[in-house]
Amino acid sequence: MVAEVLGGLNCRPGRLYVDGTIGEGGHAVAILDRIAQEGELVGLDRNPVVLEATARRLAPYTSRFFLFPAPFSRLGEVLAALGRSQAAGILLDLGLSSYLLERSGRGFSFRRDEPLDMRYNPGEPLPPAAELVNTLPEAELARIFWEYGEEPRARQVARLVVEARRRRPLRTTGDLLEAVSPVLRPRPGSRLHPATRIFQALRIAVNRELEELEAFLRQAPAWLEPGGRLVILSYHSLEDRLVKQHFLAWERQGLCRRLTKKPLRPTAAEVRANPRARTARLRIAEKI
Ligand SMILES: C[S@@+](CC[C@H](N)C(=O)[O-])C[C@H]1O[C@@H](n2cnc3c(N)ncnc32)[C@H](O)[C@@H]1O
Repeated sequence: MVAEVLGGLNCRPGRLYVDGTIGEGGHAVAILDRIAQEGELVGLDRNPVVLEATARRLAPYTSRFFLFPAPFSRLGEVLAALGRSQAAGILLDLGLSSYLLERSGRGFSFRRDEPLDMRYNPGEPLPPAAELVNTLPEAELARIFWEYGEEPRARQVARLVVEARRRRPLRTTGDLLEAVSPVLRPRPGSRLHPATRIFQALRIAVNRELEELEAFLRQAPAWLEPGGRLVILSYHSLEDRLVKQHFLAWERQGLCRRLTKKPLRPTAAEVRANPRARTARLRIAEKI
């Protein structure tokens, strides 16, 4: 949905744009191409490791981008460090990067047997996934699988986790998959592996993703200049609901105008080319 993202941001030469989840820099390159020599891009990512490769990718643009290993909820501090307070556009792309899934070695994918960590940044003082599955009470695990994974068998899954950890601690993605597989069933009509929801739920819990998004949304209008755009790509209904509720509240308060009353969705061709985009929803708001 790159065209919709760029159109949503309304990239103009000479202005300051923020990519709050810059990852490997796919959107960033497209933004830099549009804002010309005088424009500036500030990129944040909670995963510090990826920023080295991103810096190399963006090297031809050296004078015009700044990268920060920080979560997007701390954009205010980042802008202040640059002597700025507002941007012409802010982008959040809340999905997982291929680096995290395929190369981080931190257990984001059940398709690889890796340590059960799942932190975007192991330097943050957050317990890794293994600590949650081995120590949380069964009811709390069930809540996580139900609320963050919308897993219909959340209670049975939590019970299996607790039974398995009594035998020996769960240390890897393989341990978790083996423990929970007996009760997981594919959803009718869905091609998703049934463990996807369990892994998503744990990742959200480990990184406190909804708290992080809420903290960002509480402050975001102040970080936009009048006429500035906020573009958010989310991939599950909990995130999209938060974004939708905040955009609506801002519109009612006369702070922003919603440019998408209904979220934009990827085309069938985009989903074929990139199956991870199948759940993407894009919302755009403009500061008044
Ligand atoms: C889908 S990827 C971004 C891909 C990027 N838009 C591109 O085009 O290459 C999402 C990125 O967001 C980062 N991330 C997740 N939560 C974050 C947060 N709260 N603050 C900053 N970055 C975050 C992840 O580490 C990951 O690199």
